[in-house]
Amino acid sequence: MVFLTRRETFNAAHRLFNPNWDDEKNFEVFGVCANKNYHGHNYELFVTVKGNPNPETGIITNLKELSTIIKKEIIDKIDHKNIDSDVDFMKGQLSTTENLTMAIFNELKKVITDCELHRVKVQETENNSAEYFGE
Ligand code: NI
Repeated sequence: MVFLTRRETFNAAHRLFNPNWDDEKNFEVFGVCANKNYHGHNYELFVTVKGNPNPETGIITNLKELSTIIKKEIIDKIDHKNIDSDVDFMKGQLSTTENLTMAIFNELKKVITDCELHRVKVQETENNSAEYFGE
């Protein structure tokens, strides 16, 4: 079994804000991440698939095709966008790194068919990232 990872990047704006709470509670929990006029990140997205290399080609999947899928399903929908208002697969969810990672995994799971999706990792900042393995 080999694990193969493709990296993509996007930048996007967001705000951590629970509409069921007042401003005070939001700032208590999320700090400056709750700032009214949003803020942005340069995100890195790591998508890992797993499988055994095809004996004829030596590859698990075509990384160029995987990249095309990630761009179509994720990057085109989120890059230079506001995650809280513009991204269909994040509707109704707090735009935490955790939720974003799970949502991206679930989107990609639907469309990656020629090998198995193993992990999605979202690096929000140099110091903060989340990983999801599907459970
Ligand atoms: Ni943030």
